[in-house]
Amino acid sequence: MRVREAVAAAHPNIALVKYWGNRDPALRIPSNGSISLTLAGLKTQMRVGFDPDLERDRLLINQVPAEAAALQRVSRQLDLIRNEAAVRAPAIVHSDTDFPMAAGLASSAAAFAALTLAGCAAAGLKLGRAELSALARRGSGSAARSIFGGYVELVAGADAATSVARPLAEAEHWLLIDLIVLIDPNPKPTGSTDGHSSAQTSPLQAARVADAPRRLQACREAVLARDFERLAEVVEQDSDMLHAVMMTSSPALHYWQPSSLAIMSMVRSLRRAGVAACYTVDAGPNVHCLCLPEAEPRLREGLEQLSPDLWILRAEPGPGAWLV
Ligand code: PMV
Repeated sequence: MRVREAVAAAHPNIALVKYWGNRDPALRIPSNGSISLTLAGLKTQMRVGFDPDLERDRLLINQVPAEAAALQRVSRQLDLIRNEAAVRAPAIVHSDTDFPMAAGLASSAAAFAALTLAGCAAAGLKLGRAELSALARRGSGSAARSIFGGYVELVAGADAATSVARPLAEAEHWLLIDLIVLIDPNPKPTGSTDGHSSAQTSPLQAARVADAPRRLQACREAVLARDFERLAEVVEQDSDMLHAVMMTSSPALHYWQPSSLAIMSMVRSLRRAGVAACYTVDAGPNVHCLCLPEAEPRLREGLEQLSPDLWILRAEPGPGAWLV
């Protein structure tokens, strides 16, 4: 029997209002809604081939056979697709990523968005974007957002089918630049799946979740009105609230490093001086510095002054996952 193959690619995304903690960990139903920007400039491509001659699933990441834990996570996602499509064959998956993985750059968002799209296409499943988003969410919450391009909201719905992402504004709606400063490109010590499960141990998580509708509303309005000052306020506050929860969880998660903090302070003083830039940090030490295009030279200058040999990636609003 012939191999059924498909290739898809996706960009990661940076959350402007972040998701942290699951109301239902098995189904990955998020505790709070989130809003992100899909990032062109960084990309993961997935080739999925269902092959009845294989004994079990295989996964190669950048051409190297993956460790058992990564393979298991991919197999679980393939199982969901196989169940829906009544396919039984194991699959060989080639994952190719052009940015450092597991370093807090949402590599799982791009990976599970691309895997879900390629897997469904290879299995002959014809799903709409909302259904693809719900399925991608099962692999990684943030992957639900990378199915769409531009500015995207993941709704914390009542159940698995309604916890899906939806577009808030097209990529072309507002050109923001993301300068991502890689403080440490190595895999982070605590991945987000473990982090989500410890969120509830922080006494601050309940307050963070209860306040989420306010931050989401402020973020939606700021994006739709292209109001950078308003966006900067909510984005930095949301990032700081996330890290307050992380730092006060058991075990405590301290992702910031001294250089992360130095960059955040520099960005804040630039903004006080009228430069349209703000920061946000995910589950890792790397700092995303968002800015308007006209502020990019001043922001780069500020980063250069902190340290001339910083490793900086550049991204801008891009499209949702696509078949290659
Ligand atoms: O999708 P996950 O399980 O990798 O979780 C993402 C968590 C954050 O990046 C910290 C926040 C977010 O909304 O992307």
